[in-house]
Order: sequence, then structure tokens, then C-alpha cells
Amino acid sequence: MSNIGQDSIASATPTAVEPQGSNGYVNEYHDFVFSGKVADAARDPAYEYTDLLPTYPKINWEPLKLQEDLPEPGRQVQFGQSTRKGALLNRSGVKYTPMSPTLGLEVTNVDLRDLTILEKNELGRMIAEHGVVVFRGQPHFTVHDQANLVSHFGPFYKHPSSGIPSADLAHIRVLYQGPNVRVPPAAMSYAKQWHLDSAFEINPPGIVSMQLLRAPESGGDTVFTSGYDVYDYLSKGYQQYLEPLKAEHRPGYLDLMKMTLHQRRPITANIHPVVCVHPVTGWKSTFVDKLTTRSVVGLPLDESDMLIEYLGTLAMQSINSQIRVRWDTETVAFWDNRCVFHSATFNYWPEQRHTALISATANRPMSVEEARKMGIEPKSRGEDMMEKMGYKDFKVIDMTNGRDT
Ligand SMILES: [Fe+2]
Repeated sequence: MSNIGQDSIASATPTAVEPQGSNGYVNEYHDFVFSGKVADAARDPAYEYTDLLPTYPKINWEPLKLQEDLPEPGRQVQFGQSTRKGALLNRSGVKYTPMSPTLGLEVTNVDLRDLTILEKNELGRMIAEHGVVVFRGQPHFTVHDQANLVSHFGPFYKHPSSGIPSADLAHIRVLYQGPNVRVPPAAMSYAKQWHLDSAFEINPPGIVSMQLLRAPESGGDTVFTSGYDVYDYLSKGYQQYLEPLKAEHRPGYLDLMKMTLHQRRPITANIHPVVCVHPVTGWKSTFVDKLTTRSVVGLPLDESDMLIEYLGTLAMQSINSQIRVRWDTETVAFWDNRCVFHSATFNYWPEQRHTALISATANRPMSVEEARKMGIEPKSRGEDMMEKMGYKDFKVIDMTNGRDT
């Protein structure tokens, strides 16, 4: 990928964001982490992942610079109208089930440790098309296997302040909660919990992988919704209005509450398109959440707030395409941060939940105009699928004015 929107790059010079931590909850969280209770919570001699508990080493990294021409392995393969093809899903014994008609695919009877290059490329396309791909039955898949697989999709994205096992494993984000800490339900912003990961970076993460080293008996699910669908929920006129717009992203409170521990890298604000085109599928997705999207460039503040509120709410409420991943310690999930919003759930106290996340850095989010310059014809996912499936002459029921009279 090259020469993506030089004009927008110029307008997106990273701005340093000062650490904050005035919120009482933020400070409580930090007190907990600083006090070493994270380690105490898992000081169980039988606990096998003590070496993967979160730490905050005092290491410092250079600010990120724009990365271009990152690999997009999913572009190496084409499935035609369906991703239910290819070598990986046609392996003997493999089973796969859509988790919803437009978002999520669950796959069983594959050992993720032995994928061929072709199958890894196929996985890249599956994640881009389905948004979320969940592999069950991976009892032997270690964080190092996870890193090895994710490295196929691009350079590791390293979070500037999240917990990491150690300085030399800084590509692994680890989160841990157990009986010694209970997130007060009233302290959470349920709207802002829906988010894109690290959209404040100049190159936000693309493919994100996650597994749980210790899982609660119930609770702690991750909920996803499709940005492709959110775009498709909009009227044509509104889609066209949004497409040239760009918005500024700043770290959200979920990032800020980690920032005051130790920032390994200056955290920045960056500007990205409101509607992004996925480089593998060519499908358009909204790229606006309520966590990091702070303002739409060039709009009056009230209009900007209204737009972010509307698109953020639409993502939260898009029940046609939401899926929920229930975790166990043999599940590995991948999602595409360029076209999927997600939310954690914090309802599992006092049980333990220990998470390992590894992400690949992606090319900078691409606007509709930038995609066309790259030779990609941007499309609505829904319209593209209908076209590929051969649906042309069917009646569209217009419920645009669907109010009770
Ligand atoms: Fe996240």
C-alpha cells in the first residue's frame, strides 16, 4: 500500500496527549496494580501462567512513525462469493458455523499450530470477510504460537501502556483480574466500552488475536458488532455525506487508566476517515466509536458530537449483527479492528480471567477516495454480497418512513 492520502497524512500530524488520571476509578485501578495485588491474586503455586501476569517495566520507546506498504496476506487469495472455500475449511473433518449471517465464523477440528502459508493467507481473508473468526479446541496453542501466527499478518502492534509479561514480550498484552479486584459496575461507561482498539495510533492494529489463559466459569464474554453493517444501516445520502469526512481519535478512558502507570511511548492523537475501506474486501465500514473518536474535522462541535453519538449508538444497538464470544481456555479468536467494534464484559468477579492479546499493525485506515487511488473499488458489503450471489430482480421493501401513523 503506498501513497495513501498524502493530504490527510499532512493533516494528521500526531499530537502528544498528556497522561490523565483524575477519575477516582482510574486511581483505584492504579493503586491496585501498583500495590502488587495483581501478583498476589495469582500467587497460587499451582498457577501455571505466573510468568505471563501483567507488569509495567520502565522502558521507553520512540514515537511511532507512519508505516506504509504493510503486508495484506488476505489479498493473496480470492474465494469468490463465499469464504466457505479454500484449503483450510476443506481440510478433512473441519467444521465451521456462521455465528450470525454477517459477522463471525466458528471453526473446529483445526490445529492452529500447523497452518500452511496458503491457509494463513486464507485466514487473513476470512477475518476480513467474517470480521471475527473463532477457533475452538486449541488446548496446546501457546502465546508463542499465537505470536508466530499473528506475525504473518504484519509487524506486532505494541500498546504504549497496557500490561505486558516482560520487556522482551512487549508484543503480548496481558490483562488479569481475580478475586482481589472488583470493577465497580457504576464506574464503567457502558457506551464507551464499545470501541476500536488503539484508533488513536497513526497505524492502528488490524488483525487482533485473543485467548484466555484462565477463564471464568461464566461471564467475561467479548461482544462484537460489524462496522460493515453499521455503514449499510445508513441511507445513501448519509453514506455519501460521511465518506469524505475525517475524525480525530484520542486515547479513551480504557487507555488512560493504563497510561499513568508508565507510558512506554508518547500516546498520540491521529485523524482517520469516518468511513474506511478494508484493503482486503474493499468493503466500507464506519470507523467511529464513542471511546476514542473525539471530533469530526471541520464540523461545528454540535454537529460533530451528534454524528459521533449517532454512529457510536448505531454500532452498540446493531442487534442484527452482534455476536458474543464465550471464552474457555481452548478458544482462540481473531477479529479485524478495521471493520469490527467490540466490548468487553466485566461481570465475572470474583473469578479469575487472564487474557493474552496479540495484534498486527495495519496499514493506515483508508478513505473511499484513497481506496480508489489504490485501484480498489469501494463497495457496501451488503450490496457486494447480493451482487455476487446473483440477486438482481427482487423487491426492495422501502421502510424508510417506518413510523407509526
Ligand atoms: Fe479492546
